[in-house]
Amino acid sequence: MSDNQLANKSQAWSALFSEPMSDLVKRYTASVGFDKRLWRADIAGSLAHAEMLCSQGILSAEDHEAIQRGLNEIAAEIDAGNFEWKLDLEDVHLNIEARLTERVGIAGKRLHTGRSRNDQVATDVRLWLRGEIDEITGLLKALQTVMVEKASEHADVILPGFTHLQVAQPVSFGHHLLAYVEMFARDAERLLDARKRVNRLPLGAAALAGTSYPLDRERVAKTLGMEGVCQNSLDAVSDRDFAIEFSSAATLVMLHISRLSEELILWMSQNFGFIALPDAFCTGSSIMPQKKNPDVPELARGKTGRVVGHLVGLVTLMKGQPLAYNKDNQEDKEPLFDTVDTLKDTLRIFADMLAGLTPKPEAMRAAALRGHATATDLADYLVKKGAAFRDAHEVVAHAVKTATAKGVDLAALSLEELRAFDARIEADVFEVLSLEGSLNARNVLGGTAPAQVRAQVARHRARLA
Ligand code: ARG
Repeated sequence: MSDNQLANKSQAWSALFSEPMSDLVKRYTASVGFDKRLWRADIAGSLAHAEMLCSQGILSAEDHEAIQRGLNEIAAEIDAGNFEWKLDLEDVHLNIEARLTERVGIAGKRLHTGRSRNDQVATDVRLWLRGEIDEITGLLKALQTVMVEKASEHADVILPGFTHLQVAQPVSFGHHLLAYVEMFARDAERLLDARKRVNRLPLGAAALAGTSYPLDRERVAKTLGMEGVCQNSLDAVSDRDFAIEFSSAATLVMLHISRLSEELILWMSQNFGFIALPDAFCTGSSIMPQKKNPDVPELARGKTGRVVGHLVGLVTLMKGQPLAYNKDNQEDKEPLFDTVDTLKDTLRIFADMLAGLTPKPEAMRAAALRGHATATDLADYLVKKGAAFRDAHEVVAHAVKTATAKGVDLAALSLEELRAFDARIEADVFEVLSLEGSLNARNVLGGTAPAQVRAQVARHRARLA
């Protein structure tokens, strides 16, 4: 078959096939519509493979030179949007290979020596994902940096901390933000750890059993900046656990984003009124002129669902697959692509949105003063005066009942009223019952005292620098 015939024929694989595919089957089995996104990785993998074939004496220097030139020209074509992707050629691999042969002739047909699309696609996905992980960890870092600076600015702003969404104890707004910084820091750690297992080379596994050509797989791994070579050919072409691992780390990022989103939404509601978000991240209503809705956090909360769904999809895709490569694995790409896109957009937008977040300290303070948030502090005060904690707990419960009946906060009872519950109570109790007193008392590592928050800010700044 001439080179032109290869480029033009309607089926890419072999003369064995005499019956053409229906258009529906073609569309059903083709992946080029989405896997063309892997083109950079595909070309990088092919360049590394060709270079190794040449250094091993499997490919002539002349063919190698032609392949290199052709692939670079194709990269320029794709980059410029001048590449014609053909559904008939099924996927990104066959499209690029056919175009190479079109451009450089017989050398193009030699590129696939010692290789299969099975090890090629696994390599491409890994190379692509490695780059995306690096971008995502960079975005996580940027988001954390924004939140650390907000925390520093608002270490002394006090809001009610909740358990069961009931006012529990006052906390620093900075401390609250830093809780999410911890989550995002762990997310970045998880991604970096997964990256080690993503960044291994399947090429050389060929279709499933390895190849009879004397390949130097370590050399290809080194050229591609990979940390090692997959050590079993059957495993190399078939498992997508690296994609599942990434997807589960991505799911945790989105779970954390969804929790933060939920809080932003609550805080922005009239019933809380704790924060304002910049208009650029909200929308109005087409019917209610007074509305300003937190659409961005709501959407992020919703988009968490699709990322969780993709994880479940990938896990289900892998379940029960026999060794080695099965076409099922072609279905790994769209969930991965959408997960990456969702994550990157969400992290970018959250960094910008949180940079513009304005807390409303008066509303936060008023809310903290409504739920007897310093009741634990009164119990601790009595313990310091010699009461057993359980007894102190009971005494304070009576005081809270009285304050509630009077419609005031515990801290608004008079000294005489308080002394009726326990004669050990003295005037110094009011410092203890204040929101600031409560915060400052929690000056333990990891606690909410502003001094601790500032220490954590310094630690995070050094870590993120
Ligand atoms: N497009 C395929 C995929 O994404 C490439 C590998 C195809 N290999 C095969 N033997 N059909 O998985």
